[in-house]
Amino acid sequence: MTDAIPSRLVGHVPVLLDDVVALLKPRDGALYVDGTFGCGGYSKALLASAVCNVVAIDRDPHARGSAEKMKAGHGGRFDFIGGSFGAMDSHLRARGVNRVDGGIVLDLGVSSTQLDDASRGFSFRHDGPLDMRMEAAGLDAKSFVNQASEKELAGVIRGYGEERRALSVARAIVAARKEQPISRTRELATIIRRVVKKSADGLDPATRTFQALRVHINNELDELASGLAAAEKILTAGGRLVVVSFHSLEDRIVKNFFRERVGRGSNPSRHRPTLRAGRSPSFRLLTARPVRPKACEISANPRARSARLRAVERTSAAPWLLKAVA
Ligand SMILES: C[S@@+](CC[C@H](N)C(=O)[O-])C[C@H]1O[C@@H](n2cnc3c(N)ncnc32)[C@H](O)[C@@H]1O
Repeated sequence: MTDAIPSRLVGHVPVLLDDVVALLKPRDGALYVDGTFGCGGYSKALLASAVCNVVAIDRDPHARGSAEKMKAGHGGRFDFIGGSFGAMDSHLRARGVNRVDGGIVLDLGVSSTQLDDASRGFSFRHDGPLDMRMEAAGLDAKSFVNQASEKELAGVIRGYGEERRALSVARAIVAARKEQPISRTRELATIIRRVVKKSADGLDPATRTFQALRVHINNELDELASGLAAAEKILTAGGRLVVVSFHSLEDRIVKNFFRERVGRGSNPSRHRPTLRAGRSPSFRLLTARPVRPKACEISANPRARSARLRAVERTSAAPWLLKAVA
């Protein structure tokens, strides 16, 4: 989720909620994992759709407050784990959950609540400290922006933001930080806007660089690749995996992982020649094309505009035990 278009709504509105619930087909007694709890929109809908159980995960410590309220309202049917979905299989096993028979949902990126909180530093629309960490630990965006080499900055901005002017942005950052460290989101956005023009579609010039820094700081693509493989390990036959992505880098990883696991990957791959050898499809495709939000959802919630949902159902074949390619 990026903040290219301002939200007319306050708080986080779950994206493609009806499609997510319809594809997960909640049933009484089954277990569902909401790997990106956020403000709990999907968890709430799942709990309301059947007498099922939900375990939610979020790496952001701020999510715990809403999770505690949900726990209080749903007795033993809801539980929350603070951590990353990339390691969901070990988090779940540590709680005694060895198999997920209902389904798993991942709604990638950051929530509107995170974006709209200036103190988190995710957004170029609000002035705040250049932080961008979902967890309150690890390298923050300020350290990276002020310490990385020009080459490293350009690589991240091009690779994770698909910014054509990546080298110019990196050069401008390095020149500006010689004067004084860049510590606020507004300072960084101003530096970027000096070298990147507004595109024809009105996208703010800072959009791609901010996305790139956030993806890098939170190791998002690697997390996604690990999360897909972890879901494959823990889901039992008939269990479903639904992923909502918000930019092409995420969607490509999901699309390729699903293609590979349903047995439609281009094989033998030059990079992974042994990929399909002797393996049976571990998933069945549920969405031939990505599900996109309808115009009415986009007009009510502009942040839904880039969402793409893909879904698969686990077969009884053994997991391939290979991480997706990030
Ligand atoms: C788009 S929001 C999810 C919103 C949620 N579906 C709702 O209805 O409120 C994404 C959430 O996932 C969390 N998140 C992102 N990457 C994660 C990861 N690798 N592991 C766990 N949580 C993650 C973020 O902290 C954020 O709260």
